[in-house]
Order: sequence, then C-alpha cells, then structure tokens
Amino acid sequence: MNHKNTQIVTEDLKYIWHPCTQMKDHETLPLIPINRGEGVYLYDFDDKPYIDAISSWWVNIFGHVNKHISARVKIQLDTLEHVLLAGFTHKPAVELSEKLVKLTPKGLEKIFFADNGSSAVEVALKMSFHYHRNHGEKRSLFLSLSNSYHGETIGALSVGDVELYKETYAPLLIACIQTPVPKNQTIESAEEAIIELDEILKEKGSEISAFIIEPLVQGAGNMHMYHPLYIKKAKMLCEKYGIHLIADEIMVGFGRTGTMFACEQSEVTPDFMTLSKGLTGGYLPLAVVMTTNDIYNAFYCDYSEQKAFLHSHSYTGNPLACAAALATIELFEATDVIGENRKKSAYILEKLQKFKSLKNVKEVRQTGMIAAIELKGYKSEERIGLKVYQHGLDNGVLLRPLGHIVYFMPPYIITYEEIDKMIDTAYDAIIKL
Ligand SMILES: Cc1ncc(COP(=O)(O)O)c(C=O)c1O
Repeated sequence: MNHKNTQIVTEDLKYIWHPCTQMKDHETLPLIPINRGEGVYLYDFDDKPYIDAISSWWVNIFGHVNKHISARVKIQLDTLEHVLLAGFTHKPAVELSEKLVKLTPKGLEKIFFADNGSSAVEVALKMSFHYHRNHGEKRSLFLSLSNSYHGETIGALSVGDVELYKETYAPLLIACIQTPVPKNQTIESAEEAIIELDEILKEKGSEISAFIIEPLVQGAGNMHMYHPLYIKKAKMLCEKYGIHLIADEIMVGFGRTGTMFACEQSEVTPDFMTLSKGLTGGYLPLAVVMTTNDIYNAFYCDYSEQKAFLHSHSYTGNPLACAAALATIELFEATDVIGENRKKSAYILEKLQKFKSLKNVKEVRQTGMIAAIELKGYKSEERIGLKVYQHGLDNGVLLRPLGHIVYFMPPYIITYEEIDKMIDTAYDAIIKL
C-alpha cells in the first residue's frame, strides 16, 4: 500500500466504526481507501482500479460519477439544498412523484418519502397496522418469507429472517411469523409454498396486518431466487384474508431483475411498494413507500379524528436526492436500458456455465442482472467468501461474497469485456479454493 493509502486507513481506524463489520478483522484484512470513481470502476489512492461488481451495496446502477446525474445534482445544489417536507414542498419531489406513479404498477398512486431502505420498511409496516386500526381492527402480527431481509432497524429486522443479524436482538422485536419461501425457481416449488402459505393464513389470517416479501430475489438471504407465480398467488390469498402485500423492491427495483420492477413479472400491484438503493442511481440516500388511494383515504379525515400518519424523518424527500432520482429515471427514458440488460444477462448466464462442472459449486442461478454461484463443501468457520474477496481485490475486482455465495450485481453500464474480467476473476478464485 502506498503512503497515502496507508495514512487514510490508519486515520480511519482511529475514528470509524464500520457497518456490518467485526472491526478486529481489520487487524489482518486491510480497508480499501477509495479516492475516486468513474463508470464501473473505483480507484484507490494509488489509482489502482477495481470493477465494482456489487454496485456498492446494490445502489449504483449507472456507474460512478455519472455525468448526467452529477450535472442534475449540481444544478439543484445551487437552487435548493433542502427544505422540510411537512407544510412545504418543492419541484423535484413533485416531479419525481409524478414519474414514479407513471412508472410503477397501476394503482400505486400515493408516495410517502423516507430517507433509507429500512425507514421505508418501517413506514410500510406502521401504515399497514395503522390502516387496519383506522378501520377498527387490531392486527398486530406481520408475516414474511423465511430467509428474508428487510433492513436493520427494529421493525425491519423483526420482519427479516437472517439469523446472523436478528438473533441477538430477539427480545426487542415486534411480532412476526414466517412462511416458507419457495425452494427454488421452479413453478412446482412456488405451488408448494403457496399451499404452506394458505395453511398459515387459514390459522392466523385475521391477526396478520401485512405480508412483506422481496419479490423474486432475496438479496442478503444468499441471493435465493423464486418463481413470479408465487407472488401472483400470494397476492390473491392476501386479498382473501384482508392482508396487505408489501413488495420490498429496495434491492430489485429499477431494472435489476429484467423488468423495471420485479412485481411486473407477476402482474401484481402490491398494496405497498418500498423503493430505495437504485432510486438515486447510488448517489444520495432516499426512499419512497408507494401505496394505493384506498390506503391513503383511510387516514384522510379531520385532524380531531386522530387518524393521521404522524411519521417523519428530517431529510424526508431531500431535493438533492430527488434531483438525483429524476436524473436516474431520465437515463432509463433515454435508452433501452432494460433491453440492453437482457442481452448482458444472457451473456453472463452463458459465461456462468463453466462453473457448473466445478466440484465445489452447488448451483448457479440468475435473475436479470443478478447472478449467483453457490459453493459447497465448506464450513462457515472457514470464511470461504473472504478468500474470494481477497483474490478479487488482488486482481482489481470488488466481489463481496455473502458467506459461500459468490454473486455479481454490477452497474448496468458494465461492458462485455468488463463482464469477462469480473467473471473470470471469480472463476480463478473458486478453482484455487
Ligand atoms: C430488500 C431490502 N430491503 C431493505 C433494505 C434496507 O435498506 P437500507 O440498507 O437502505 O436501510 C435492504 C438493504 O440491503 C434490502 O436489500
């Protein structure tokens, strides 16, 4: 590491407690200081490039320092940096809301702003509970899929099911039960999981406020994937029992799964849709909860009736973030991003075939611009993912396996040559394990 890289790392470790990290690991695993970004690349202070194969925690869809998004944010910076959204409004929020209503499945007509994914999940949970309350019903139980992930705040953690993050905080969590996620991407496993969902709803349906799902792909849950039919049938069952369906599209929204929103593949309009991450192209924190007029109207009455949704965050609907989101949507409007992604994902799938014959590979799976290789034959203490991570860094590719799952979720602007480098580097890492 050169002098500048080392200096920043030393200063960092004096002060910063990093997210989702056992800090002691950094005694042996160096932090990577990043000086600048451009397109699919991040550069350290030595100007060593790394292909960002995970879109910086799944947020960056059009590359780093994207000219169009940067220009839009710069104009906004000189116009209005922030104003509270209670009692006030601004043009970027209004324009963005109008665009989102047009883009998302028909029937989602109202937008509540938040400022990160977990907060959006909290909003959807609270709104669902409150909707039933405003209708005179007390439904204090939530339902989610086994192996799901919805964020780290207490409510969001409660509806998640990844033991590693959740177990410690069990005494603090709100009531939530899980129904089995379909085992794989086949129609048969979707049908089986629907039968299990039906059983749960027969027993508990009247207590459940909302069923929250990550449509098609469970991100932090090892990039587990399932068939769109499950969502279609789950929505019908939810309607039967008066339960809201919350589609958490925080990771899968904005073209990641091959359609603009994953729910489109099931032809479903959920009661709530949460969006964040790709919403601002990975520039600024912003999240929205989209919902129906029916839900909105359940809160609309005289103040004295005490039915209002009194929830807020200081940076709700920040104008700079809204400008970044508008610029991101303009990039989708300017070219056939989804069509190009389909070609790239077909190419990625073809390249992944060679992994299938490796002795330590259990499964290769893909949905749109998300591809995953599940390794087998290792104990969790071996921390096999770290070895792949290290090999990637040594060779200029930022891979960040989830345990024994090596996955690719690159920015959409990745070229075919860069795809080759990203996948071949992972291949070399896996054959050397
Ligand atoms: C599906 C899903 N929901 C919610 C979240 C939480 O978002 P945030 O990290 O912005 O709080 C994540 C984050 O990875 C996610 O993947």
